[in-house]
Amino acid sequence: MHGLDYSEAAVSSAQRRADELGIPCRYTRAVMPTSGLEGACADLVYTGKGGLIWLSDLRAFFAEVHRLLRPDGWFYVYEAHPLVPLWTWDADEIRVRPDRGYFATSHVNDTFPGNGAVEHQHTLSTIVMTCRRAGFEVEHLDEHPEPFWLPEGINAAAWDGRVPNAFSLLARRA
Ligand SMILES: C[S@@+](CC[C@H](N)C(=O)[O-])C[C@H]1O[C@@H](n2cnc3c(N)ncnc32)[C@H](O)[C@@H]1O
Repeated sequence: MHGLDYSEAAVSSAQRRADELGIPCRYTRAVMPTSGLEGACADLVYTGKGGLIWLSDLRAFFAEVHRLLRPDGWFYVYEAHPLVPLWTWDADEIRVRPDRGYFATSHVNDTFPGNGAVEHQHTLSTIVMTCRRAGFEVEHLDEHPEPFWLPEGINAAAWDGRVPNAFSLLARRA
């Protein structure tokens, strides 16, 4: 197993945790979409829980994942649904933020923990079609009501099961 992250702090703390638990995983620093790893070195590539929002160029990222996978290898994504930036965190009712758009290409995060960071937005159709065009067959796509992460002490109406908050995608390298 090999984990990649561009933060030295994330890489070293993940490595320490894996070593403590005796999990045979090596973490190295990489700025995706340049992994620095050999081609066809993986049977499965996973990204998720706040990965895609940092990538402006999905095409380059999916091309790199395709290069890393052996033929018939699997690519799994579990991410925040692209609609999530639109939901307010109001407790009484689900509301759409007037300052955000589904088809916008980015927004500035104004909540914990990414406060102030510019996050990239990719619509669901863009994600799926870019994945297909990179040479993958999409085997599974699902939308989930539960967010992948629940901030402590907040109970937004948008998380009560009525609207999508996450998606999962499983694709096979063709
Ligand atoms: C929200 S965290 C998710 C981490 C991990 N997927 C998890 O579930 O714990 C996002 C991570 O992406 C990393 N990151 C952001 N841009 C990156 C890039 N271009 N290449 C590699 N890692 C990146 C950040 O350093 C951060 O650790």
